[in-house]
Amino acid sequence: MTEGTRLIRGLEGVVAAETKLCDLDGANARLAYCGYGIDDLARRATFEEVCCLLWYGELPGKGQLDQLTVSLVAAREIPAQLVDAFRVMPTDTDPNRVLQAAVAMLGMFDPDANDNSHAANVRKAIRLTSQMATAICAHHRARSGQAPVPPAPDLGHAANFLYMLTGRRPTPVTTKVLDASLTLYAEHELNASTFTTRVITSTDSDMHSAVAGGVGALKGPLHGGAGEAVMRTLMEIGEIANVDAFTTKALADKRRLMGFGHRVYTAGDPRAAILKGMAEEACRQSGQFKWYEMAVKLYERVNAVKKLIPNVDFYSAPLFYSLGIPVDLFTPVIAAGRIAGWTANIVEQYDDNRLIRPRGDYIGSGRRTYVPLAQR
Ligand code: ACO
Repeated sequence: MTEGTRLIRGLEGVVAAETKLCDLDGANARLAYCGYGIDDLARRATFEEVCCLLWYGELPGKGQLDQLTVSLVAAREIPAQLVDAFRVMPTDTDPNRVLQAAVAMLGMFDPDANDNSHAANVRKAIRLTSQMATAICAHHRARSGQAPVPPAPDLGHAANFLYMLTGRRPTPVTTKVLDASLTLYAEHELNASTFTTRVITSTDSDMHSAVAGGVGALKGPLHGGAGEAVMRTLMEIGEIANVDAFTTKALADKRRLMGFGHRVYTAGDPRAAILKGMAEEACRQSGQFKWYEMAVKLYERVNAVKKLIPNVDFYSAPLFYSLGIPVDLFTPVIAAGRIAGWTANIVEQYDDNRLIRPRGDYIGSGRRTYVPLAQR
């Protein structure tokens, strides 16, 4: 590289976009979408209202929310060919791979597939948000040897998701817990998966390609895959009496503890604080309080020694588990929330695009002379 720039490992602290979507203040543990604090949105708004906020920049009035709800409900069906594809996929494959393939397939059937105009991108955002939820549930049913549950038009997004997953209509309490979780996961500035969607968008590719890339980035255990890893850690510990011994050994082994730490938040992750309260209630109500208690004890032990903060994925793990969501679907459920933010970022990127193309610093063996194969 000839230009005189400095390597910033992991792009830490680098500002790569201007955004009206998310205001993340890591030093003060504050997060807001389009200016609205996450606490208010999670507790008082629905996921549909948050989608509207992210896609249109304003919280909707009743008329606009009704209109968006009708559009989201109308977009819930997925192509029969996609359901057929689920039936021939290996039953033991990672549902994140399936979701990535499903998003790519949805792009093949989307009427606006190659239209990158603002209006078409918002239409695609609506369709993808509804269809991804249906696809996650239909695949889970297919791999379990069950027929997909058709979407229920009278249910909101979160309730319909749980209905399509289990075939049972959820209670208002369960619905609110998932709805708030989707809101808490909906947007988070330039996290790795959202940045991925922006990089793909910046080449003038298309929304479905960008979202498929986002799913791939989200699946990693350093990012959205951490929730699943937290639950597997809690299961490995097994009982609350084992937390002390587990923590002592894990810290001695310098093991990376899933659900702890964050690149940006130094004073705590505000989403984790909200999820903690919700997890406590949901675990108690479902008779699974043990997982919540274990998580709290694990946090206390880890924080006392290493001062690591719990991130969003720490308490969402026992929370999702108490809702009956299979552990390997935790990350797809996170994607079902994050799709709102991915698509909003994609729209924002298209509206003011410049190719994202950073540099690499060559540290190889200088310039070398080519030697023909026969002489090597
Ligand atoms: N367990 C143990 N040590 C940790 C952890 C952890 N979870 N997180 C950070 N550290 C330590 C590192 O070992 C390192 O210590 P050192 O300086 O003595 O070597 C120091 O803290 C800094 O860690 P980095 O990995 O350099 O921090 P970075 O900002 O790159 O990583 C990350 C942030 C990936 C979130 C990290 O904290 C981590 O791996 N956490 C566990 C995975 C996780 O929960 N990811 C979800 C994040 S939230 C989300 O994406 C939805």
